[in-house]
Amino acid sequence: MAPQAERTPSSARPSAVLVPLALGDWVDEFTDVQAQANGFPLHETAARRGMIASHTDEPGIRSVGAFNVDRLVGFAFGAPFDTRWSWAARMTDALAANRNWAAYGAPFWLLEIHVVPGLWRQKIGTRLLAELLSTASDQWIGLTRLASAHRARQFYERAGFCDLPTVPAPPGYVVMGAPPVTQRVPDTFCGDGSRTIGTASAFAKPSPRRLLQRGAVSAAETTRRQT
Ligand SMILES: CC(C)(COP(=O)(O)OP(=O)(O)OC[C@H]1O[C@@H](n2cnc3c(N)ncnc32)[C@H](O)[C@@H]1OP(=O)(O)O)[C@@H](O)C(=O)NCCC(=O)NCCS
Repeated sequence: MAPQAERTPSSARPSAVLVPLALGDWVDEFTDVQAQANGFPLHETAARRGMIASHTDEPGIRSVGAFNVDRLVGFAFGAPFDTRWSWAARMTDALAANRNWAAYGAPFWLLEIHVVPGLWRQKIGTRLLAELLSTASDQWIGLTRLASAHRARQFYERAGFCDLPTVPAPPGYVVMGAPPVTQRVPDTFCGDGSRTIGTASAFAKPSPRRLLQRGAVSAAETTRRQT
């Protein structure tokens, strides 16, 4: 049974209603949606369930579900980047070394997002992402995606993410990032504004003046950087 959600007139009823959920209560349902979305075989279920369950007690974990009537049809969850994640250790130095990202502090990490295939391209994924990130609007957002997941890549690029090729990902994965929701300035974060990805210019340092205009650093910090 889906949690109580706001009633919408049937004429304007969206294909899904979003509800914040406690991850620990929905591990089985999330595992099922993930399996449907990715076509995972049954024998992978236990391992995938374990991965989802491992995030239940994550500090700062947030998750949101999408319901079509009483059926869970999508979910997303994420948490502040945690260097204790087994796969995160290899990324930590590279993330800290890049001054573009360091200026925004530690990222919020999108850990999972999945929508059942029958409801793709109805903006459920976009809405899940927006809802999940609504309380992390001044943090930059990171994620790892399977290098072979081209559908996901298009979805993330449309949502403002770019590849971060200087960050070592686990084998077979790519790290992507997006600037904070409140400060979408892709020319300095992801490239030169023309969505150039993976070039040296994509990681050019923003000028202290630009950072100050965005409120990303204090005036004192700007003076220090200029000297
Ligand atoms: C990736 C996923 C979450 C997207 O969910 P969704 O609800 O279909 O996404 P949206 O409808 O919000 O799509 C927003 C935009 O992303 C892009 N996009 C999404 N799916 C796409 C696809 N299959 N091909 C090309 N572009 C796509 C489009 O630009 C789309 O806007 P448009 O439909 O107006 O052109 C969903 O396809 C999914 O669950 N896939 C399998 C699991 C997965 O890959 N999860 C990510 C793990 S890293």
